[in-house]
Amino acid sequence: MTTLIKGGTVVSATGADAAEVLVDGETIVALLAPGSDLAVSAESGANTVIDATGRYVIPGGVDVHTHMELPFGGTSASDTFETGTRAAAWGGTTTIVDFAVQTYGRQVRECLDEWMAKAEGNCAIDYGFHMIVGDVNDASMKEMDILVDEGITSFKLFMAYPGVFYSDDGQILRAMQTAAGNGGLIMMHAENGIAIDLLAEQAVARGETDPIYHGIVRREELESEATHRAIKLAKVGAAPLYIVHLSASEALEEVVRARDNGANVFAETCPQYLYLSLEDHLGKPGFEGAGYVCSTPLRSKHQHHHADLWKGLRTDDLSVVSTDHCPFCMKDQKELGKDDFRAIPNGIGGVEHRMDLIYQGVVTGEISLPRWVELCATTPARMFGLYPKKGVIQPGADADIVLYDPKATWSISVDNHHMNMDYSAYEGFEVNGKVDLVMSRGQVVIQNNQYLGKAGDGKYVRRGLSQYLM
Ligand code: URP
Ligand code: ZN
Ligand code: ZN
Repeated sequence: MTTLIKGGTVVSATGADAAEVLVDGETIVALLAPGSDLAVSAESGANTVIDATGRYVIPGGVDVHTHMELPFGGTSASDTFETGTRAAAWGGTTTIVDFAVQTYGRQVRECLDEWMAKAEGNCAIDYGFHMIVGDVNDASMKEMDILVDEGITSFKLFMAYPGVFYSDDGQILRAMQTAAGNGGLIMMHAENGIAIDLLAEQAVARGETDPIYHGIVRREELESEATHRAIKLAKVGAAPLYIVHLSASEALEEVVRARDNGANVFAETCPQYLYLSLEDHLGKPGFEGAGYVCSTPLRSKHQHHHADLWKGLRTDDLSVVSTDHCPFCMKDQKELGKDDFRAIPNGIGGVEHRMDLIYQGVVTGEISLPRWVELCATTPARMFGLYPKKGVIQPGADADIVLYDPKATWSISVDNHHMNMDYSAYEGFEVNGKVDLVMSRGQVVIQNNQYLGKAGDGKYVRRGLSQYLM
């Protein structure tokens, strides 16, 4: 079965050109000059032509930071692998890399098996896993080596959440040394959780229990200090480092300094840190701000965080945009922290909106069209060992293709999103551009505003080593 996508502008990380894309089965087999006399006819019954006139033809988005069904704070993230990956497809993302979690006192292997079981047969799009190592010890370090060989090549550690996911500096250094030996990539949640917990306790003792205090106690100095420490530990451990969900100017400065000194340090940011703020969102009246409680937190609009992060995206000091999709409903979930912000489960859902939200940076001139594709598809694929199957339109790649209509306009709402959330963090946000068609390994899964796929279409992907470390 072949499909020809014609009439569109194919956008890659390096440019945008009129071209036709020929798909055979699950794979892209050719990129052709427009108007090629290809023997493809819709009438033959075997072949299909998709008219992409007026559309950008881009590689399917690769979101390397999601938390489907993550247990957190006495509840679990509200998107299952089924609902979350379907929502991702609606938004033009065709691959996710989710975080399997080793909790303290348990074996890495049994935790990973649980995560695999949650996802298997349920996903709408392809998926891989990172491993959160919540208990750095002899056994988990041995297991890291084995996982790298099995296609789980990145490991998240936490400098935050003492008593839950937290690793101390010795444990972090040890995991970095292990990664340096096996080629894995350490991903760091860089916030000083010990200091944050003290400030949070003091705030609550003063009666400061509203959601905004979540952001106030998680001071940006405690993100930049942890980022600095992680970078230094990675140097001592001779390991590469990837900072997740970077939110603040000072933390970015640490990354810029390290990169300028030649260190193999990378960082991602997320749409919430580019668009939302401590005052306007986390500080919404009543308990509404709970919908914006995430860590790292939203930052003040009175500083330069938004502008600095966009600059970092332009200069490649920030290499990737992921979502950190970790949705919780207001009802019964965020509400757990009505009297104490520390009990609000941390996370914002956004897996459906990343491609659109970052495209707004193209519209406003913050980034170029190819950079959009690079940040949202190509670099995440290369960073996490998915390239060249994912993140690129070229012969041999999986036919994960999105047709994007730059002329469409619409606004984001809980009434039109597909994530399992009872509110939208981006309610009323006006969007220029819209996903028009989504193909996942050759199968059209979104077309004419309809979902045509089914749970289980998405397959587990064994990842290779990061291309940025070779
Ligand atoms: O608030 C967040 N980010 N929740 C998910 C867990 C994490 O730290 O990434
Ligand atoms: Zn984190
Ligand atoms: Zn996360």
